[in-house]
Amino acid sequence: MNDLKNIFPRKEEIPPQFAIAKPIEQREYLINGEMRTWEGKLNPVLSPVFINDGNTLAQAVIGSTPLLTEKEALQALDAAVAAYDQGHGYWPTLGVEGRIEHVEKFLAEMRKQRDEVVKLLMWEIGKPLKDSQKEFDRTCDYIEDTIKSLKELDRNSAKLVEEQGFMAQIRRVPLGVALCMGPFNYPLNETFSTLIPALIMGNTVVFKPAKYGVLLIRPLLEAFRQSFPAGVINITYGRGRETVGALMETGRIDVFAFIGTNKGANDLKKLHPKLHRLKAILGLDAKNPAIVLPDADLDNAVKECVAGSLSFNGQRCTALKILLVHKSVLEEFISKFKSELAKLKSGMPWTDGVSLTPLPEPGKVDYLRELVEDAKTHGAEIINENGGQYLESFFYPAMLYPVNDKMRVYYEEQFGPVIPIMSFDGAQEAIDYVVNSNFGQQVSIFGSESKELAKLMDAFCNQVGRINVNAQCQRGPDTFPFNGRKDSAEGTLSVADALRVFSIRTLVATKSTDANKQIIGSIIRNRESAFLSTDYIV
Ligand code: G3H
Repeated sequence: MNDLKNIFPRKEEIPPQFAIAKPIEQREYLINGEMRTWEGKLNPVLSPVFINDGNTLAQAVIGSTPLLTEKEALQALDAAVAAYDQGHGYWPTLGVEGRIEHVEKFLAEMRKQRDEVVKLLMWEIGKPLKDSQKEFDRTCDYIEDTIKSLKELDRNSAKLVEEQGFMAQIRRVPLGVALCMGPFNYPLNETFSTLIPALIMGNTVVFKPAKYGVLLIRPLLEAFRQSFPAGVINITYGRGRETVGALMETGRIDVFAFIGTNKGANDLKKLHPKLHRLKAILGLDAKNPAIVLPDADLDNAVKECVAGSLSFNGQRCTALKILLVHKSVLEEFISKFKSELAKLKSGMPWTDGVSLTPLPEPGKVDYLRELVEDAKTHGAEIINENGGQYLESFFYPAMLYPVNDKMRVYYEEQFGPVIPIMSFDGAQEAIDYVVNSNFGQQVSIFGSESKELAKLMDAFCNQVGRINVNAQCQRGPDTFPFNGRKDSAEGTLSVADALRVFSIRTLVATKSTDANKQIIGSIIRNRESAFLSTDYIV
């Protein structure tokens, strides 16, 4: 570990290409195709990076964002509702090819902003340079794959089906007005993994950026404005409960795409007056365990568990949040884990080869310290050198052992660099942990004996959304289904699934009589309907 005293940089140590010359004061926001200017109060954007002036550490203030109110949020909603126009608006009736063109235009404009967005990802949420670049590139790939997948979907819908004396054409159509909200840990990628599918399927959108990772949307505002017709995408800022609560209460939100806590999702959903009308797609909390069996390849298990629990400081919904290690390999596992952990470099997001960086959530370090103290009270110890040391927003990973069910860290999603470790004797103990958990996103199993692995797979397949064998938990590849059970998710996302969740199948059906065939044939031949058509995009 670097000396904590020196972890935060002096101003002159910040590489010039990553420096923010002066705070970015954002006053613009996008409603109804207009870039409006906010004259009211601003919300300061504090970086997790502190600056060392030789004597004191001061938290960097990198800018401010508009503290919009309920009034502006409702204006954004009005614009989205008008653009949708009960399904008769330009956007929902445009057709797949036209909508793809707009999204492609946006993608081209977005790519031009890569450096600026990456820089802000580093400053706003402390994400290492490489991971920030990866987040940006992965998002662009996701958009490209979405376009490809939609073309395929469209091709498959461009035909008539015949069944039991009926002929029909089945197509996917939009749902209405979508409210999209992303999380701070992937403020670009996770947000766009709902926002782009919502748009491309013909919905109109109100987008509220995450709590942290807000300024990084600013370089994309103009791209949104130029690429989409007025009202199709509206971007609003301000306090979540005030602005988003007001939107839900109107009952005019048709789709709620939210990545955050299950409590937050519950509270917001309940505000909608007609819950049956609200479709929700939610990515929520998780407490993914790793289960290390006696015959596991320990080098691989340790490598995957270190990455799984500590990539982006453990701030991934898919992170490994508790490690269950068979008692026969516990000692060796812990010793290898410690030496791998000791190799991780601490520093600033731009530090070459850095893994461990400051945490963006205010109060997070105190929360992690509380979890550690609570675990200690119930018999655990910090077992790694320097574990739990902290300075301002930086917290050095703490390996906790032995963890038991009296401790908060056994149940709570720490979403940070605390690694709870438990030993187990029989596989049933590991199965019970998963079955009794409130969460059901993913699990990792490490082992080599096929019979034992198969037994665990079968025990977990009705408990979680993905079982990872000899690998950490993760969302990617983005074409794979990503979901969860219990308090972990609602609905399934993947490139293809996202297109489904933001749309509904509608069909035109008729009895296959000669007269009806003639009518249908003439509509198709003369291109009289946009819906009933066998045209498709090549
Ligand atoms: O925070 C949750 C993300 O969806 C996890 O994605 O597994 O690719 O890091 P990831």
